[in-house]
Amino acid sequence: MTATTTDRNSGDIPVEADLGRAPGLLDGAMSLELTPQQCNLEYWLGAVAQGTLRGLVRGGHRAETPTPAWMREPGPLRQALLEEFAFRSIAEEKATRALSYLVLNAPDVDTMEFFATQLVDEARHSAVFRGHLLDLGVSRDELFSTIDGVAGADRDGVLVPLEDFALPLGRDDADFIGGVVVLTVLVEGVLAPAAELSERKWRLLDPAAAEIERAAGIDEIRHLTVGSSVVKQYLESRPDELLRVKELIDRGREMWGALPVLEMILRREQLFQEGMQAHAELLADYEIAPGRRLIDTTPDERLTLGVTWSLEMQESRLDYMGLA
Ligand SMILES: [Fe+2]
Ligand SMILES: [Fe+2]
Repeated sequence: MTATTTDRNSGDIPVEADLGRAPGLLDGAMSLELTPQQCNLEYWLGAVAQGTLRGLVRGGHRAETPTPAWMREPGPLRQALLEEFAFRSIAEEKATRALSYLVLNAPDVDTMEFFATQLVDEARHSAVFRGHLLDLGVSRDELFSTIDGVAGADRDGVLVPLEDFALPLGRDDADFIGGVVVLTVLVEGVLAPAAELSERKWRLLDPAAAEIERAAGIDEIRHLTVGSSVVKQYLESRPDELLRVKELIDRGREMWGALPVLEMILRREQLFQEGMQAHAELLADYEIAPGRRLIDTTPDERLTLGVTWSLEMQESRLDYMGLA
């Protein structure tokens, strides 16, 4: 073999984990099939630790990818990203802690190893989103108080009820598959499209933020596809569990419906709307979706776009799992 270990495209990195070649989050999560048997610890060490993450600052973005000076100036654009990434850093932290129960209750070694790697991925995402707040000019001393200030209300309104729904499954009931369903279908399946939308929104306004989303999105493809295949394999071997799992999804969706998620997203989109107007020249012909210029979109339109993607993704995943 002639490839060197420092060459990012050495051919040793599978396509789905390669920052330059992997599909987008939505495409990848709907078209790829990965299993815990493939994505065990050995896979992660090669494909992710020495692949996706090679050369990324704090595991987030390449050193040469800038955070423009305007992102450090107080105003609606900076505030929109502060609120978004502070919230994400809390969500990823909560996901990390919840994953410890999937590691504990996993039925075999490959599955345990996969969820151990996902646990590390989520802890890293939390750190990366927090780290970008420093790029936005938040001081290290004020990092956690800033996160609390800009995202504390959303944490209490959205993430705490979600956690109250999810944690008892693993912690009190040792319900492994229930925990996987909640994480894959109700948490990552619902939120992943928002990450894709975020990457597209920030690509020119804050290239480092977009690259952070891109790298985290590559991990999400793996989490969604492997989580789905765990559920699929389980239901094939335990068809008697189908009804219980469907009821759990119904209860989860009801819970989501009662949370103020759309209000939260709309508030951030309104800040973004106000902030992007000052950069109309930079955004010029940049399209958020084929044929649609970002600068022409409205907060409601972007909210609807995210919700539509989310429904499409959930439908395709549920179909794959035999839960349609
Ligand atoms: Fe994550
Ligand atoms: Fe994830």
